[in-house]
Amino acid sequence: MDYQEYLDKATELALKAGEIQLKYFRSRGLKSATKQNEFDVVTEADKASEKCITDGIKEAYPTHGILAEESGAIANQDSEWQWVIDPLDGTTNFNQGLPAFSVSIALKHKGRTVAGVVYAPYLRELFTATAGGGAYMNGNRLECGRNTHLETMVTATGMPYDRAVNPDNNLDNIGRVSTRVRGIRRMGSAAIDLAYTAAGYFDAYWELNLQPWDVAAGSLIVEEAGGRVESIREDRNMSVIAGSSETLRVFRPLIK
Ligand code: IPD
Ligand code: CA
Ligand code: CA
Repeated sequence: MDYQEYLDKATELALKAGEIQLKYFRSRGLKSATKQNEFDVVTEADKASEKCITDGIKEAYPTHGILAEESGAIANQDSEWQWVIDPLDGTTNFNQGLPAFSVSIALKHKGRTVAGVVYAPYLRELFTATAGGGAYMNGNRLECGRNTHLETMVTATGMPYDRAVNPDNNLDNIGRVSTRVRGIRRMGSAAIDLAYTAAGYFDAYWELNLQPWDVAAGSLIVEEAGGRVESIREDRNMSVIAGSSETLRVFRPLIK
């Protein structure tokens, strides 16, 4: 099946949502609120982006299902098609005025991701993929890195929102990895972490306790760039590790 039409719509909406975000970014008086705890923030830009994307999908595909971070499962949950949306991934960065934030839009068909877009508007980086069609950044084909030397790897991770109250907070992994690799980065946007792994900017990425909208589009982009995204834990929502199989053979044993 050709998924290009869906990718084009997802790209159009990601670019539109990105423009909305740039209007709010670093503006005085940006309105924000907290969600599950003080670490978890949502801004008016998250909500405006989500509305732009979900309105656009409802208009183009009125029978499709939608799962969006701020609104939940909002349409046609029995459809074979489901859009999975993080309207603004990296809200903590956004709220602080830091440029690593993105829009993430994926389309699933019968549970399999078939199109994905990650767009970082401030950086003007557009990552796209369709199932079987390859992965691209601003139109250039992507390929995961194949580094097998731990000492020269630059890796990325994140820390879960419940880290203050749950000792299962990834600090053990960070401690183990940081003494073995050239670098660890904490970008603050899981979607960008995956996209940068697809591009080979990161050799590998792992994180615990993510949600479907954090990883849906980015995972397809990694896979279409020749990489793998593996589940590393069953008991911590979506917990993933990403990279090429060559890199993961060396890096994977460090992560618990
Ligand atoms: C967060 C970012 C962050 C990751 C968090 C996510 P949000 O998403 O992807 O990098 O560490 O776990 O929840 O809240 O900014 O959409
Ligand atoms: Ca997110
Ligand atoms: Ca978000």
